[in-house]
Amino acid sequence: MRARDICLVAPGLRTRRRWEIALYLSLLFGVGLLVFETLHARTWSGLYGDNKAQFGRYGDNKAQFGRYGDSMGQFGLHGDRVQSDTVEDDERQEVELTEFPGTRPESIASRKSRVICLCSLWSKIAFRPLVSHWRVSRKHQFLYCPVEKTASTFWRRFLHQLEYTSPMRSPFDVDVKSLYASRDKNLEVTESGEDLAALWSNTTKLLFVRDPYSRLYSAYVDKLLSPNPTYWNNWGKTAILKYRNTTAEAVRGDSCGDDVTFPEFIRYAVSQDGQSDTHVMSIYRLCTPCKVNYTVIGKMETFSRDTRHLLSVLRINESQLGLERMADDVTRDAVVDSVKDAMSRPWLDETLRCITRADVVRRIWRKLQIRGFVSWRFNYGIDPQTVTAMDGASLVEVLKQAVRASTNRTELGIQKRQAMVEAFSRVTPSQIAAIKRTFFLDFQMFDYDSSPPSLANSRTGVAAMTDAFDWRKDWDLSPAL
Ligand SMILES: *[C@@H]1O[C@H](CO)[C@@H](O)[C@H](O)[C@H]1NC(C)=O
Ligand SMILES: *[C@@H]1O[C@H](CO)[C@@H](O)[C@H](O)[C@H]1NC(C)=O
Ligand SMILES: *[C@@H]1O[C@H](CO)[C@@H](O)[C@H](O)[C@H]1NC(C)=O
Ligand SMILES: *[C@@H]1O[C@H](CO)[C@@H](O)[C@H](O)[C@H]1NC(C)=O
Ligand SMILES: *[C@@H]1O[C@H](CO)[C@@H](O)[C@H](O)[C@H]1NC(C)=O
Repeated sequence: MRARDICLVAPGLRTRRRWEIALYLSLLFGVGLLVFETLHARTWSGLYGDNKAQFGRYGDNKAQFGRYGDSMGQFGLHGDRVQSDTVEDDERQEVELTEFPGTRPESIASRKSRVICLCSLWSKIAFRPLVSHWRVSRKHQFLYCPVEKTASTFWRRFLHQLEYTSPMRSPFDVDVKSLYASRDKNLEVTESGEDLAALWSNTTKLLFVRDPYSRLYSAYVDKLLSPNPTYWNNWGKTAILKYRNTTAEAVRGDSCGDDVTFPEFIRYAVSQDGQSDTHVMSIYRLCTPCKVNYTVIGKMETFSRDTRHLLSVLRINESQLGLERMADDVTRDAVVDSVKDAMSRPWLDETLRCITRADVVRRIWRKLQIRGFVSWRFNYGIDPQTVTAMDGASLVEVLKQAVRASTNRTELGIQKRQAMVEAFSRVTPSQIAAIKRTFFLDFQMFDYDSSPPSLANSRTGVAAMTDAFDWRKDWDLSPAL
């Protein structure tokens, strides 16, 4: 079947195709620039992402774009919005479950044909594959393109076990710290030319994707809200210096970059600099799905189903994986990982220059609330004397108690979604438009809704604000309940 024909049968595309082509034509000039940029420079956002005058038509004009990208009813089939077996489950689902009662998650096959179809339409936008980023198990002919903030740690552990244990043991037995502590050259892709082509044709190739809004949000919560001197410095300071009306001296001098806001981070993430960082780079560019014919394209939002599918492709018995341990493991990792580094000596040496020890604890606490592990009802109640004496191990104990006591899953879900909606409500429309442009192909290829998360099911239609990110004061969620 020719690609054109596949386009015609790809789910959701039949009705969309006319718009696709209209857009393609209207963007032709822009694409020309893109190709030029791809050939002559590393990045494209300078021309593509920032020039509002030129791309205003596409990204900012709601009348036009809304019809194309935002209207969900029009295109019928929408995958993945019903399933709810996720790792950090996609907050959006709960809402959409009620909106699209009849829909089923799209099949893996239709996901692939959708990508192939869009590749044929967008073949002019081509990035060079980031081969050094991939990981491979040659023994099992398995290739993985890691997408950060999309269960990449799980898949790195998976690949490690696949390569080194026989019969394969659970990924959860691999210590995360040691996994990242040193490079394992054996798992890196060093092939080039014909060898690389052979590797591509002979391996089972895995890509796991995630909704761009969730991915960006998760990067902020994990690396900037949570005390992390490295990312405060790399992302926070850079963003503040560039986007805040402040003097350069003030930023270079005392600042740690710890107070970078979500809107500032978003501006950075969609900028040229941000898009050269693999943590926030668009998946299209990071894993080049038009250059690599992925065998399985999984989604974070249907994690269990897609993982089972991959296992059947690789002929691995599910019981070897311990997937049932996943939920507990994610929770344990969330608590321990939030605390271990942040309360360690080298990190504290950095962070305590700018914030107090109590602030460190408060931020960790709020992060676990925002991620839906600790109820908003349990507020940080540790007095300053205790904090001074408190070490990582004792904080982990206190947090574990709080996690155990947080049993109302419904409310934890509301809490999690509320925080995400609040974060995006502070991002300006022009920055939302920039997200839509930067992740344009991610939204399209992987069939994600390009409108930002909202409380579509709230009775009033107006989201209550609860200052979820003001970690200095206790979180009061009652206005949103
Ligand atoms: C790929 O598979 C072909 C045919 O099965 C085989 O001849 C070739 O050696 C394989 N290449 C690699 C790199 O495994
Ligand atoms: C930055 O702050 C200065 C002094 O407060 C003000 O005069 C200037 O207009 C501000 N610039 C912007 C772009 O907001
Ligand atoms: C991609 O791989 C599938 C098998 O997974 C194969 O049927 C198809 O022909 C390949 N397409 C291209 C363009 O290589
Ligand atoms: C998977 O492994 C379990 C336990 O080792 C075994 O009981 C089961 O029959 C296996 N399933 C398949 C399909 O081989
Ligand atoms: C869980 O929280 C929701 C929302 O606040 C509330 O309506 C419900 O009654 C709670 N359930 C229990 C068992 O407390």
